[in-house]
This record gives sequence, C-alpha cells and structure tokens, in this order.
Amino acid sequence: MKISLFPKIFIPLVLFLGCTRVEETVLTKEKMQFIASQFENALAVTNDPTRIPKTINQNGELKTTGIYGWTSGFFAGNLWYMYELTGDEKWKDEARKWTEVLDPVKYVTNDHDVGFMINCSYGNGLKLTGNKQYEKVMVQAAKSLSTRYSPVVRSIKSWNSKKAWDGETIWDYPVIIDNMMNLELLFEATRLSGDSSFHHIAVQHALTTMKNHYRDDFSCYHVVDYDPLTGVVLDKATNQGFVDQSSWARGQAWGLYGFTMCYRYTNDKKFLDFAENIADYILNHPNLPEDMIPYWDYNAIDPNLSPEWNYDASKFPEIPRDASAAAITCSALLELEKYSGEKREMYLNAADKILESLFSPEYMSSSSDSNFFILNHSVGSIPHGVEIDVPLVYADYYFLEALVRKSHT
Ligand code: GLY
Repeated sequence: MKISLFPKIFIPLVLFLGCTRVEETVLTKEKMQFIASQFENALAVTNDPTRIPKTINQNGELKTTGIYGWTSGFFAGNLWYMYELTGDEKWKDEARKWTEVLDPVKYVTNDHDVGFMINCSYGNGLKLTGNKQYEKVMVQAAKSLSTRYSPVVRSIKSWNSKKAWDGETIWDYPVIIDNMMNLELLFEATRLSGDSSFHHIAVQHALTTMKNHYRDDFSCYHVVDYDPLTGVVLDKATNQGFVDQSSWARGQAWGLYGFTMCYRYTNDKKFLDFAENIADYILNHPNLPEDMIPYWDYNAIDPNLSPEWNYDASKFPEIPRDASAAAITCSALLELEKYSGEKREMYLNAADKILESLFSPEYMSSSSDSNFFILNHSVGSIPHGVEIDVPLVYADYYFLEALVRKSHT
C-alpha cells in the first residue's frame, strides 16, 4: 500500500527565503505581515477556542462556530499552516490550543464532517509535531466516520435523513461530493494504525462516487441519494448548487481535490485520470471568468431562475464568485501537477493564475473591509441564503495550504 508522500514532520518553511514564482511576484513581506495581522485580530476577539472563527456578519463582526460545527477544524489548520509558513513558534502554541479543544469531536458519528474537523486540525498538527496523542485522535475519528459506511451502498452516508428542496422527497441515504474530502482521514488512519479497513472504505467510497456522482463531461451532482437496503440510486440532486443539473463550484473543487488525494494514497491510475478529467472540465469551462475565480455555480448565469430560494438578486447585482472554490481548486492543482505528465505545466500555470487573482485587491481583504480573514468573496450557500459574498475560514485554509504546496514546487 502506498502511503502519504508527505514526510511526517516538516521543517518549518520560511517562505521569504524560498524562490518560487509566487513568492517573488505576489507574496510580499507586507502581504505576509497583513495575513499574520488578520489572525492576530481574530485571536484578540476570541481567545476561547470553543468560539471558533468562521466568517463575519453584516457589520463586519466576527462570527464563530462551536466545536461540533463542520468548519471547526479549519481555524486550527490555518494556525498550523501559519507555523509552517513562518516557523514562528507563537503560531504553533496557538495551533495546539485550537486543535486540542476539538478532542471530543473524535466521537462524532451523526454526520460525515468529522473528517474535515479532525484531519484539518489534528492531521496538520501530527505532520508538524509527530505528537503520538494526535495519532490516537485521528484513528478514533476514523472509527467514528467508518460507522457511517454501508457495504451495501459502498459509500459513507453524509447526512442523516433529510428533505430535498422539493419539500417532498426524503433522502434517507444522501451522499454529497464534499464527502470525498473526509477520505483523507481514513487513509491516514490506515497509515497510522495498520488497520486496512479504513483504506478499504475510502477506496470503495471513491469508486462509488466516481460511478454515480459524475456526468459524462466530468462535472458532478452535489447529492446522490441511495436506497440503504439495496444500494440503488434513488435521486441525483443539489443542496447548495443552482439547480440539480448544474455544477456547483465548490462541489467540483471538492471532487478534484478528493480524487487527487485518492491517487496520493493508492497510486491507482484511474484516480489520477479521473482527477485530470475533472481539472480539464473546470479549467476549460466556458463560464470560468478570466481571473479564474469561478461563479458560485458554473451554471449560475441568471440567479432569478430560482426565485424559490431566499436569494435577493437586487442585493447582488453581480453573480457572486466563490473564492473558496478557487482556493480549493488551486491547492488541488498544486498536488495534481506533481503526478501529471504532459499536463503538469498547464496545471501549474492555472494554479499560479488563481493565486495571483486571490492575492489581488479584488479578492484579498484589506484592513478597511475585513479584520479577521485573508480572502473576501466566498459563498456558503445561496439556496439557504447564508454566507453570500463573505470571507470564510475554509477559503483561507485552502489558500494557505496552496501557499505551503507552492513552496514545495
Ligand atoms: N461541506 C459543506 C460545504 O462545502 O459547504
């Protein structure tokens, strides 16, 4: 079995001493200082690690989540990345504190997000410190996640029973594309414990997702609902996208990242080919703007087409972009390029272009517009009417991860 390509313990990277294109052109010392000051501002407002930065409200005030919110692991992850990027011990101390408060999350079995929550916090902490206690938390969290796997469906159930947007259909076994991201926790748990069952579940889930979530053009549905007794597909739909048939931007990014990561752990070429096909779909999409920061859904050309949603188009005369989708895509491309042959340069150039855009004043926050986050212009969920055109902690997470990955190219 192939395991993580990343060494268990990184020597902290001091980006300014490196010499990659992105550092020379866009990651100036001033920008790095600004990024650090945004985290310092957040830490000055909340030093209680059970009140975890997530986004801002309309007045620009910090909004937080508790330890069981799906985004709870990203802030700790951001602090680990700050430590990795700067080598400054103060970030390590904070990262420990914001990670270790998540310890009870390892027992979460009521949805699939335990993968995001524990891998982004403890997973990064483990790579940087080798802390044995963190290994135990990772393995317990993988056990919890595995309770949601059905050998009949051959997938992990993302959410418990839930109504679809039509208000009538009940999804009993909904699996969302985001779930691909939780597989990293399972692969890591096998690497750490030697128990191959986690790896097996991850591979089966990825294969089932490949088969049922994806369309011929390598775009994907957000939600696939299964009959838990037979494994038959009952519904293909959206929860956070524009319409069922559309391509929700963050979903496409989760898929690209997820299948690239599956290749890292399996060395199975079908995952690499699949990831390349998804990348090509994204990068060649006719609705991808010049600056490569996607609209929140690749098909969201006219928001008025879904008037049933709590979406006030007059408040958003321009279709919102989603910087979080761009950041995830960028980070994924910076891994994919390492495995790709002739497309390597293309993926690297695309990632550079995305980074350049995210670093521009159009997307990067400034002290006058957001005090706590790095990037503006992300979208949580337009159909739910929440977090539209705001900073989001996970956009920053994948942006910082992309910078770390970039420093290794
Ligand atoms: N996993 C939730 C989201 O991407 O919004």
